[in-house]
Amino acid sequence: MKDVAQQKQDIGNWGHMLANMLLAGSVILTAACGNNGTASPPSQPVAFNHQKHIEIEMECTRCHPGATTQTQAGLVPIAACATCHRGIISDHPEIVKLMGYLENNEPLLWQRVNNIAPSAMVQFKHKPHARAGVPCTTCHGDVGQMSVAYQAINTANMSWCITCHQNSDASTDCLTCHY
Ligand code: HEC
Ligand code: HEC
Ligand code: HEC
Ligand code: HEC
Ligand code: HEC
Repeated sequence: MKDVAQQKQDIGNWGHMLANMLLAGSVILTAACGNNGTASPPSQPVAFNHQKHIEIEMECTRCHPGATTQTQAGLVPIAACATCHRGIISDHPEIVKLMGYLENNEPLLWQRVNNIAPSAMVQFKHKPHARAGVPCTTCHGDVGQMSVAYQAINTANMSWCITCHQNSDASTDCLTCHY
């Protein structure tokens, strides 16, 4: 439970944010009309291919272990990729690159495809959606068929979230999604 001081602080932040939104309203409208709202795929440090892994019937949660049980889907460390790739196509240029990160103990910084701006003060949680039986494809499209993961649906879209919440009797209270 949040204490009263924290709740007051929250309400203060909201007032501030709504005022900012009024000021920035015209900018937001312009941005929303510019395109269909999905971001183009970022370039990744290693050319990962979902399709090749779903073809061999790997489960999404084998690499994204939090997707049904945690807030964030997450991604396994390179060591987990290496259990296969020490043996499978180990001389493929992208695998050579991948193993280089592991050997040099360098972080592999995958670029985000879906990203709700921290300034929107939203916390998206995977777990309740999995529990309610919403499949990955509803929010991410058919990633298993993608050679390059791209954003099929604009997930940083409040009216998209709220429309589904209304249709599925989930909460539309501001503080369900905002902190
Ligand atoms: C109800 C919609 C919804 C469903 C269902 C959903 N996701 Fe997501 N996913 C999102 C949103 C929204 C984000 C961006 C969250 C953010 O920026 O904080 C995201 C982010 C991600 C990310 C990157 C960030 C992270 O959390 O690690 C991965 C990977 C991911 N999802 C995988 C999956 C997988 C696998 C499934 C199915 C088991 C799934 N998602 C189901 C909406 C969904
Ligand atoms: C269960 C074993 C397994 C695991 C674990 C695994 N892969 Fe793979 N990976 C494969 C197979 C099989 C292929 C396809 C090989 C082929 O084309 O002959 C592949 C192909 C690839 C390719 C080449 C794609 C292309 O365009 O040809 C890359 C890059 C890759 N994997 C990266 C990764 C990364 C990164 C991870 C960890 C997040 C990972 N793999 C985990 C089995 C695995
Ligand atoms: C072999 C490991 C592996 C498997 C299996 C796998 N993924 Fe991924 N996934 C990755 C890697 C590596 C990335 C980051 C690179 C990229 O974006 O392509 C990623 C990225 C993503 C993203 C974009 C994350 C973001 O930044 O928003 C989504 C969404 C996603 N995966 C969903 C899925 C779904 C759905 C499945 C099952 C159909 C799945 N993944 C199966 C390794 C995997
Ligand atoms: C396809 C439908 C769908 C979409 C899209 C969707 N949700 Fe949900 N959401 C649900 C359902 C169903 C539940 C579970 C409600 C329950 O358990 O009572 C839920 C639950 C939640 C919860 C947990 C609520 C609680 O009481 O614990 C949060 C937080 C949430 N959603 C945030 C979001 C955000 C943020 C977005 C957009 C980025 C979003 N959702 C998009 C269907 C959806
Ligand atoms: C089901 C989830 C959900 C609910 C409920 C919700 N929001 Fe949001 N809201 C979001 C998401 C997701 C974004 C992020 C959109 C983006 O990144 O552009 C957002 C963005 C916003 C923004 C813009 C912030 C910015 O910096 O871009 C404001 C203001 C806002 N919401 C106010 C509200 C108010 C007020 C309520 C209650 C009446 C509410 N929201 C209820 C999900 C939700």
